[in-house]
Amino acid sequence: MYAQMVRSTGKGITPREEMSAQERAFQDRVDRDDRIEPRDWMPEGYRKTLIRQIGQHAHSEIVGQLPEGNWITRAPTLERKTILLAKVQDEAGHGLYLYAAAETPGVSRDEMTEDLLSGRMKYSSIFNYPTLTWADMGAVGWLVDGAAIMNQVPLQRTSYGPYARAMVRICKEESFHQRQGYDIMMKMAQGSPEQRRMAQDALDRFWYPSLMMFGPSDAESVHSAQSMAWKIKINTNDELRQKFVDQTVPQAEYLGLTVPDEHLTWNEERGHYDFSQPDWNEFFDVLKGNGPCNTDRLAARRKAWDEGAWVREGLLAHARKKAARHTAAE
Ligand code: 3HC
Repeated sequence: MYAQMVRSTGKGITPREEMSAQERAFQDRVDRDDRIEPRDWMPEGYRKTLIRQIGQHAHSEIVGQLPEGNWITRAPTLERKTILLAKVQDEAGHGLYLYAAAETPGVSRDEMTEDLLSGRMKYSSIFNYPTLTWADMGAVGWLVDGAAIMNQVPLQRTSYGPYARAMVRICKEESFHQRQGYDIMMKMAQGSPEQRRMAQDALDRFWYPSLMMFGPSDAESVHSAQSMAWKIKINTNDELRQKFVDQTVPQAEYLGLTVPDEHLTWNEERGHYDFSQPDWNEFFDVLKGNGPCNTDRLAARRKAWDEGAWVREGLLAHARKKAARHTAAE
């Protein structure tokens, strides 16, 4: 079936017969799996969706450093400290690639940051939950980075060139992050009864927020149909959530931990696990700014932005001087 015939359950997508000739030609390129590049013509909605999704993704990488950065000074060994430090630095790098990719369809990083600080742009709901114990570093790596990879591996085939290319490196690094998280969980799960309890408690607290990372159910997803027609998204939110559950439950069993879902069962007929949905009221509440850490996260971003103003101004002044000297020499 051609992508443009898909009808959204939320906002509809433009049927082919209502597209302009230019929009039809664009959709044909997407359907042929051509890569769209920044200088190519694109529908305004496609451009805006790229900025929204890639920008939100970039903000998530940057805000995502906060719950883990909080544990760098408290890591239990020097080795764990260096690994965590490297991981947090990787996330900063991901943010930078993604801001660069989001700038290509025509928005500046400053505008995106201002939109984040004013609440017009979002970052992933998961980073509004606190990291209370060292076991949370394991759960974040295993579950949060695990959920991120589940979403991002298919995004390496997204239709927009700069986004797809950024994803290749990001996925390699996220896969290391996921393994280091699982390694922490393994140590804790095989440790003392108290360490085991900490590991189980971290799984209990991060399981449902991790399921929320994939976004609302397909029936509630506003953007999925159009984003999938444009191949900015490759899978629906529910497809990815199911894949994540199917992959993660055996990993929890291997650790000897219990997924906090009494309805979790293997469904032989479907070839998938049946599982409980997260509390969607909680999800939408977190999106509105009412999660346990929303205020702290935005305050930390605002502080970094304000305190970095003199650096940005200095760099711009230097660039202006250099350009003036260059012009004078010519
Ligand atoms: N957190 C915050 N907002 C979310 C969300 C979440 N987990 N899931 C959905 N939303 C928002 C959407 O942004 C949209 O709001 P908007 O219109 O104001 O932008 C609304 O909820 C409706 O959801 P839709 O399903 O219609 O939205 P999308 O089609 O954009 O799907 C998505 C949401 C699956 C998250 C998609 O945007 C996506 O795949 N994004 C790219 C991946 C990404 O951003 N990952 C961040 C994960 S964290 C990370 O990678 C850091 C790493 O270090 C772990």
